[in-house]
Amino acid sequence: HNNRYYVLDSPEISDSEYDALMRDLVKLESEHPELVTPDSPTQRVGAEPVAAFGEVRHPAPMLSLGNVFTFDELKAWRQRPLALAGQSFDLVCEHKFDGLAIALTYENGVFVTGATRGDGLKGENVTQNLRTIKSIPLSVSKDAPRRFEVRGEVIMTRAGFKRLNEERERKGEPLFANPRNAAAGSVRQLDPRITAHRPLDMYIYSLGYAEPEGSMPDTHWEILQRLKSLGFKVNPHSKLVASIDEVEDYYRVWLERRDSLDYDADGIVAKVNPMTLQKRMGDVGREPRWAIAYKFPAIQVTTRLLRIEVNVGRTGSLNPWAELEPLAVGGVFIKAAALHNEDDIHRKDIRIGDTVIVQRAGQVIPEVVGPVLSKRTGHEKVFQMPRKCPVCGAEVIRPEGEAMARCTNSVCPAQIYEQLKHFVSRGAMDIRGIGESMCDTLLKAGLVKDPADLYYLAKEQLLTLERMGDKSASNILKSVEASKQRPLARVIFALGIRHVGSEVAELLAEHFGSVDGLASASEAEMMQVQGIGPKIAESIAAYFRQAPNRKVIEKLKAAGVRLEAEQKPKAAELPLAGKEFVITGKMEHFTREEAEARVKELGGRVGSTVTRKTTHVVVGADPGSKVDRARELGTKTLSEQEFLELIVEK
Ligand code: IVH
Repeated sequence: HNNRYYVLDSPEISDSEYDALMRDLVKLESEHPELVTPDSPTQRVGAEPVAAFGEVRHPAPMLSLGNVFTFDELKAWRQRPLALAGQSFDLVCEHKFDGLAIALTYENGVFVTGATRGDGLKGENVTQNLRTIKSIPLSVSKDAPRRFEVRGEVIMTRAGFKRLNEERERKGEPLFANPRNAAAGSVRQLDPRITAHRPLDMYIYSLGYAEPEGSMPDTHWEILQRLKSLGFKVNPHSKLVASIDEVEDYYRVWLERRDSLDYDADGIVAKVNPMTLQKRMGDVGREPRWAIAYKFPAIQVTTRLLRIEVNVGRTGSLNPWAELEPLAVGGVFIKAAALHNEDDIHRKDIRIGDTVIVQRAGQVIPEVVGPVLSKRTGHEKVFQMPRKCPVCGAEVIRPEGEAMARCTNSVCPAQIYEQLKHFVSRGAMDIRGIGESMCDTLLKAGLVKDPADLYYLAKEQLLTLERMGDKSASNILKSVEASKQRPLARVIFALGIRHVGSEVAELLAEHFGSVDGLASASEAEMMQVQGIGPKIAESIAAYFRQAPNRKVIEKLKAAGVRLEAEQKPKAAELPLAGKEFVITGKMEHFTREEAEARVKELGGRVGSTVTRKTTHVVVGADPGSKVDRARELGTKTLSEQEFLELIVEK
């Protein structure tokens, strides 16, 4: 009945009959707690809050989607798959949900892990929160693949969003700007009991993987049907089509009808149907070649453009942006918008003082579309890119064929500041204690001229800074020291090479194994790595050709920053090698998934039943019959505390 009600939207019994059944179940379970299964509908109320989410590594990266806005662009997109396929193929048309991407893993028919997209490679473990979403099956039929992952979008319906905000207004709580923010905020709640009260829903739109291989159909369309029969909510409006014209028809229909939907859709998605073709096409960067988002036109508003300001970026690019008369768009306040570059400003004839059209498409930064010519007074001013860097005063150039003007001073404080900020940031070297203002202070005091100088800071130097006490200085030095051991991918990312984001850095680290290895690779060698194209390769090569950059790397090396991949210990040498753990009962400090992940990390195995092979049984609160079995077999049992001591910081 849950499936019929929450997934299929076609209940067979009345609400009161449903409630009566539920009450029976609750009563039965309270009389016979041993019969409560993890997938019981009573288990969706929300577990205890956690201090922080664990991390989940995605077995296959969670990609993003390329965008097109016109039918011509859509047809152009299809050329690539068409050339690779050498023949025509079907496409699946779907709505593009505006929510939060989530991956769900099932093992032996049971929902075990749910994760956010995160940076695409690693996400947050939000399993406990997802368990409260009624359209996510806690278990699926036994003939499902042994282990599989599905991906989809957690959304909040418009009606649910409206109700939630009304309730929040009554309680004097801050309102959510839109259903997407509300959905994302609800899933990323540390207290699952709060999530349980939010009107969330999840649509599944793809298969991540399935084991054993071949256990799922070989077209996307049939996979969707199979997922539906397994109990997942898939969008009934998806459509299998044979031609690109039909994709256009689908787009037009839903552009017209999108307001009639109960959820926000910001476009449609077209996907190549045969899975073999999808695999052959692969990805470029973070986007698959086999799928494309065809976006609906964004929400537009008009306001006055007050000023055009220029920022200097990490690579010296001069980025113009518009300061606007503030206004609310789709629930968020906008007071600034992107202007891309000088040519774009002139092509669109955007002038200072103009009334302009501003658009916000989904979550991206708002942009200025163009001026409202009828509102011109004649007092508007044409924008001119400054000839001198607004920060250091050095000459500004615009290299042939490039859209961006650049500051020519490679030691421009703005550039160095941005580089330094990037270097110490969370996703890079993660040097706690050096934040934005500290970067500024260090540069101004002349203690640091490039990021590598951080590793040569002496305590006496830090103590010369205003308001710097002995304790803070020691803490800074400690975090600097700790950062020497960051994984190689982070170091590569921290260097701030153009076009090398954290995901590309992971690929490079994996392939080349060291900064030196990367530095000596040819562009051709770099392009051997899947996901690295000519633009990225060229940028990396250019980076390592620059003498100042090579000097930074030498200085990092001399300071003892690890510029090589960490040595993975051999499985047999890991502390828990050869041990098999069974975990039973509720743990106070971590979820079962976290405990299992940690055991595996340390080389141990995890079993679900106590057998002669089991070496340790970890016993939490309210354990089941597994403890008795352990006693029978004389297997060693551990309390949660003993287990913690065994697994922490080995
Ligand atoms: S397919 C690998 N299908 O759009 C392709 N994504 O812009 C990505 N999204 O992160 C997944 N509706 O959160 C796919 N029908 C749909 C979708 C969809 C919404 C989201 C998804 C993804 C983002 C990319």
